[in-house]
Amino acid sequence: MSISLPPVLIVDDEKNMRLSLKTVLTDEGYSVRAAESAEEALTMLGQDDFLMVITDARLGGMSGYEFLGKMHSRWPDLPSLMITAYATPKLAVEAIKAGAMDYLGKPFAPEELLHAVSKCAERHRLLNQNAALRARAHETYQLEQIVGDSPRMHELRQMIQTVAPTDARVLVLGESGTGKELVAGALHCLSNRHKASYVRINCAAIPETLLESELFGHEKGAFTGALKQKAGRVEEAHGGTIFLDEIADMSRPLQAKLLRFLEDGSFTRVGGTQELRVDVRLIAATNRDIIDAIQQNEFREDLFHRLNVVQFRLPPLRERSQDVLILAEHFLRHFSHTIKKPIKKFSKAALQKLTSHHWPGNVRELRNVIERALILETTAEVQPVSLPDFEVEAGLRKSAPAPRVIGNQSLDEMMAGFERDLVSHVLEQNHYSLTKSAEQLKISRHALRYRMQRLNINTGTDTEEESAAPNGKDMAS
Ligand SMILES: Nc1ncnc2c1ncn2[C@@H]1O[C@H](COP(=O)(O)OP(=O)(O)OP(=O)(O)O)[C@@H](O)[C@H]1O
Ligand SMILES: [Mg+2]
Repeated sequence: MSISLPPVLIVDDEKNMRLSLKTVLTDEGYSVRAAESAEEALTMLGQDDFLMVITDARLGGMSGYEFLGKMHSRWPDLPSLMITAYATPKLAVEAIKAGAMDYLGKPFAPEELLHAVSKCAERHRLLNQNAALRARAHETYQLEQIVGDSPRMHELRQMIQTVAPTDARVLVLGESGTGKELVAGALHCLSNRHKASYVRINCAAIPETLLESELFGHEKGAFTGALKQKAGRVEEAHGGTIFLDEIADMSRPLQAKLLRFLEDGSFTRVGGTQELRVDVRLIAATNRDIIDAIQQNEFREDLFHRLNVVQFRLPPLRERSQDVLILAEHFLRHFSHTIKKPIKKFSKAALQKLTSHHWPGNVRELRNVIERALILETTAEVQPVSLPDFEVEAGLRKSAPAPRVIGNQSLDEMMAGFERDLVSHVLEQNHYSLTKSAEQLKISRHALRYRMQRLNINTGTDTEEESAAPNGKDMAS
């Protein structure tokens, strides 16, 4: 399938005029839809996307001028072309005043019409291209952005360089905050697809019922609320890369559809029958223990094998302690620039404190710690007092408080406090793996997540998802 332009909408009450406009445009490859009246056109505009509108000045009910006025108040960016009885400066001014981008006086040559329409098509293309460029400018993923001097990071950058230019599917595994998203972005940027779109979908953040239509699109009326036909994000990623983050959280029925899509790039929009096809490279990531998810019957093994063509395992920060200071200095430079505080170094004691922490939240935790330190610091160097009290924090969580009445707290408040300490402690012990913590507490993952929300337990990461410590070899493929 080719990713085509939306249709041109022709509004004319004369059947012959509609037909001849339609012929000229469809011969040139445009798709065209027609309305007999302004009223009908306004309804159609509310339902679907159009490239532009071509309207006659004189229509049966509401006039063309009135129609354009109404149309532009609702869709100010939609280009329009008005056809007037004959070209006079007065009519031209009126057409432009009503919001038309251009006008044509009858009779006109087909080339004049095509010229006006191609200007709109070009504008549409440029706007889309700009949007894609803007989106990419925010995400200038490059290899140099993946900071670290440990052998495993060198190996990782080398591996990215090797794998990026191929079309191989990549599965990125690693605890929360280890840089999976960064790696996925670098793979796209260094690929031959870098000029096309990079589309990222977080499978855990989109409600299960909407994820399929987000991915594959839907037809109008496919479900309540599907007022318009919508293209899927896989279509947006045509020629480029799609990054499915938190893939282990995808429901099993959708996993089956993804499997089919991975076989040959074909899919059907929700509520549709037509089989569509795109050319997309897929990168997936998860911080869950994917083997555990397969064993729990939550993830399809066949899908795992399809995704797992090349596997990257990102090492947790505590396994590459030499990177801690390099990353800390990298974030110091970054935040001293953005926060505009000329702090250039860490005091000896601060460095000592940074290296002795075991970083359960990995690089993300380190980044947050440095940002906070720069905000708090009042001297020329980062002092230990501006860093969190790691030892006390860890110690507090380790030694369960002796059961006693605290102030004037009620039993419920004290129990919640006890529960919070216990759950936090178990999470920390399991390096914030929800699956393992839930197992130890003998409750389901969902029950644990619910409790964490209720008890306001923040794992120090952006997501409420778990991290699973992958064991085994780094970046085994
Ligand atoms: N090697 C690195 N060099 C520089 N910055 C890094 C590195 N690794 C991670 N970061 C930064 O740490 C933060 C977390 O990284 P990222 O979002 O890629 O983690 P993640 O593995 O996707 O985590 P999650 O599983 O929680 O989604 C980001 O701000 C990222 O830029
Ligand atoms: Mg991520």
